[in-house]
Amino acid sequence: MSSVVIVGTQWGDEGKGKIVDSLSQDADVIVRFQGGHNAGHTLVIDGQTIKLSLLPSGIVRRNKLTVIGNGVVLDPQALITEIEYLSKLNISVTPENLKIAENVTLILPFHKELDIARENQAGKSKIGTTGRGIGPAYEDKVARRSIKLIDIEDISNIDEKITRILDHHNILRKAFGLSELNSDIIVDYLKDIKSQIIPFMDNTWRLLKEMRLRNKKVLFEGAQGLLLDVDFGTYPYVTSSNTLPAQAAIGSGVGPKYLDSIIGITKAYTTRVGSGPFPTELFDDAGDKLGNIGNEFGTVTGRERRCGWFDGVLVRQTAQISGIDMIALTKLDVLDTFEKIMICVGYEIDGRKIDYLPLSEYMQNKIKPIYEEHDGWLSDTSGVNDINDLPDKAIQYIKKIEEFVEIPIKIISTSPKREDIIFLENIF
Ligand code: GDP
Ligand code: IMO
Ligand code: MG
Repeated sequence: MSSVVIVGTQWGDEGKGKIVDSLSQDADVIVRFQGGHNAGHTLVIDGQTIKLSLLPSGIVRRNKLTVIGNGVVLDPQALITEIEYLSKLNISVTPENLKIAENVTLILPFHKELDIARENQAGKSKIGTTGRGIGPAYEDKVARRSIKLIDIEDISNIDEKITRILDHHNILRKAFGLSELNSDIIVDYLKDIKSQIIPFMDNTWRLLKEMRLRNKKVLFEGAQGLLLDVDFGTYPYVTSSNTLPAQAAIGSGVGPKYLDSIIGITKAYTTRVGSGPFPTELFDDAGDKLGNIGNEFGTVTGRERRCGWFDGVLVRQTAQISGIDMIALTKLDVLDTFEKIMICVGYEIDGRKIDYLPLSEYMQNKIKPIYEEHDGWLSDTSGVNDINDLPDKAIQYIKKIEEFVEIPIKIISTSPKREDIIFLENIF
């Protein structure tokens, strides 16, 4: 296996960072291919917690090449801040270990302002975005007015592009009561950050082709989760990129036939940050308990995550749409003290049973989950790293998920720490 794609199968925060960190030991290159600094990936290494937003998680290991692909939206200031944060932890980010696609789309300060202004204006119907300007930056990309990284290499040629994007944004800004911007402010901003970003710029699709020809092992690190996919997620309560593994090809310039295996990171229960339908959401003590034991607070925004039971219908659907080969089940240990654990195995809408998530928001809001009850194992699995040391009832829970979702579970994570993980198969 020489290329592996990692994606979250739920609404994000499944523990992708931890699994990518673990697998990156055997990888040569780690690539981000979509999203931006809306992601928050947590690694716990030798007692130290490291939170990454924009940089591929492989950056924390020495001698690994990391790539930010063209499918990412890159906020230069966020990148500079993250590099400084890592440097304080003695992790150096240099043009040798980080390459950024020359055609990556830039997030500019007015994208963030627009994101926040829209959310404020939306009131009850807000998406609950991370407020990082992700949506507005992707809109500009698709509307063909973005500033790409390569555009700032020679700023003397950029005026026309800045005028084009600002002409559009100033109309919007006026409508939202924001001050109009003139191009000098943006040009000055780009001049300021240029020298800190351009050294990382490279022709990354060619680089990845070279890596493939040299049989290097490539790990693609997805952000967000499949239910936040702009096509197949709980639209409109989604992010603005495709989070499907197929995006690894488009967002990095690698042909889809070179993606060898896809691992879906899946939490042993369900969480969501921000607005939108959530069939198995709990509003009782069990929900609070999941949140407290699972420490379910957003990595990026600190917001409390909504919590609920494992929804097999959702994961089976996202696994089928995206073509997942195997699941990495995380946070099993969070369920250790539950006497009864529910698994959602179907939905009821207006008295009718269905076995899939309807894509209409109206129907999604009417879903009543159908549960199967599972006896808890009531013993400490935290830190277990041998499958034989898991209690029978925990194994039965894993098997139940595996059978229902119709995808084998090959990795089990039992704590936030790097070393607390069970591999049932060699990945690379
Ligand atoms: P990501 O966005 O998918 O990388 O996930 P986050 O880092 O946002 O959130 C996952 C949280 O769960 C982090 O705080 C991790 O340290 C933690 N975590 C990951 N795997 C496990 C696990 O197996 N058990 C427990 N208790 N925590 C875990
Ligand atoms: P990681 O990679 C969880 C959610 C936001 C909001 C919606 C749109 O850590 O799993 P956006 O700012 O992207 O326009 O917000 O998507 N969201 C995430 N939720 N984990 C993430 O990333 C997320 N990135 C975005 O909360 O509901
Ligand atoms: Mg996260």
